[in-house]
Amino acid sequence: MLFDVRPKIFEEDLFNRERELNMILEALRLGEGIILVTGIRRIGKSSVLNVALKKSNLPYVIIDVRKIFFEYGNVIHRRALFNAIADSFTRNMKFFEKIKFKVKDVIGRIKGFYVSEVGVEVEPNINSKLTDILAAIDEWCLKNDFRFIVAFDEAQYLRFAGGVKYDGIFAWVADNLRNISIIFTGSEIGVLRDFLKFDDPSAPLYGRYYREVVLNRFDRETSIQFLKKGFEELRMEVDGEELEEVVDKLDGIVGWLTFYGYCRGIQGLSHRRALNETFEKCSRLVLEELQKIIEPSRRRYGAILKAVSLGYTKWSDIKDYVTIKVGSITDRRFSMLLNKLVKYSYLIKENGRYEIPDPIVKYVLREKFQI
Ligand SMILES: Nc1ncnc2c1ncn2[C@@H]1O[C@H](COP(=O)(O)OP(=O)(O)OP(=O)(O)O)[C@@H](O)[C@H]1O
Ligand SMILES: [Mg+2]
Repeated sequence: MLFDVRPKIFEEDLFNRERELNMILEALRLGEGIILVTGIRRIGKSSVLNVALKKSNLPYVIIDVRKIFFEYGNVIHRRALFNAIADSFTRNMKFFEKIKFKVKDVIGRIKGFYVSEVGVEVEPNINSKLTDILAAIDEWCLKNDFRFIVAFDEAQYLRFAGGVKYDGIFAWVADNLRNISIIFTGSEIGVLRDFLKFDDPSAPLYGRYYREVVLNRFDRETSIQFLKKGFEELRMEVDGEELEEVVDKLDGIVGWLTFYGYCRGIQGLSHRRALNETFEKCSRLVLEELQKIIEPSRRRYGAILKAVSLGYTKWSDIKDYVTIKVGSITDRRFSMLLNKLVKYSYLIKENGRYEIPDPIVKYVLREKFQI
């Protein structure tokens, strides 16, 4: 069902991402080591990742790094990562059996992991390292002619790993473990880039080949088609003008369109109420996430975002607004904060002008956000 608000798992529920799916599948077929799936929040990264993993028919683990980060007190502990790996194996035991990937042979050999019929568990005082796990998987895959996928959803949170340098580990995997492909997704695209540092000569992943699959918003026509098809599935007739208004207001961000469709099609709200509900409910989510990001310099970040939401798009105009609102700030510091917001994908910079790419973020900043 298109209007299911959870990340999609089945290809038939994934609308208009054939090209992106094929890019990922081709990279896997060619045995490429690193694949990035990037795009702003709610654009469908997790859905595309889920479907690609399923469609590849290859064994995989998928790790929701953002979930670990928030569940375990804003840090990525090794043990939490191992638990997530074990859980992912457990969820897919039947699939592994079907494709003859022998979890027990592979994971059972690693100290601290325990494999039973029903799943994989981690001993509390496990001493093994991620590299041990990956090496064991790769060795088995090499002998048995498998490719294995390790997927990190919202991988940029791996930068909060205490002393562990994951970028170094990934470079080692890329160079040495030929039968493993890693997929990273990230909505804070600049932050993900800063973490992986493909362009930094002093960083471990420097110069490594990677394939990037960028998820863009749907264009107008595709957004309308998406809504039409979703309502058709529910056998509902909807007014074309109303759909136009939905796309005017929510743009081609499939997550928001899905939420509208859910409110209207499943919850049975009227067009107007569904649209209001989408703005109200989704803006709460957005605001919560935004507060966390801007916390280190709340008033200044807040003033920058407010300025852009009010239509100031030029560096100097935004800076003037910020200075009036929260006092003077050096050019350097101002640019740093502005660029950070671009890295976090709250702003985009196009032809020297700054904009907010997400209509719900814009609404939140205009209506709900006080500096
Ligand atoms: N191609 C698609 N077809 C149908 N529904 C989709 C599609 N892509 C995403 N969705 C829906 O949009 C919402 C957001 O999708 P998803 O969680 O995959 O995006 P995301 O980019 O991972 O979001 P986040 O940044 O919050 O992690 C979900 O409700 C999902 O079901
Ligand atoms: Mg996601």
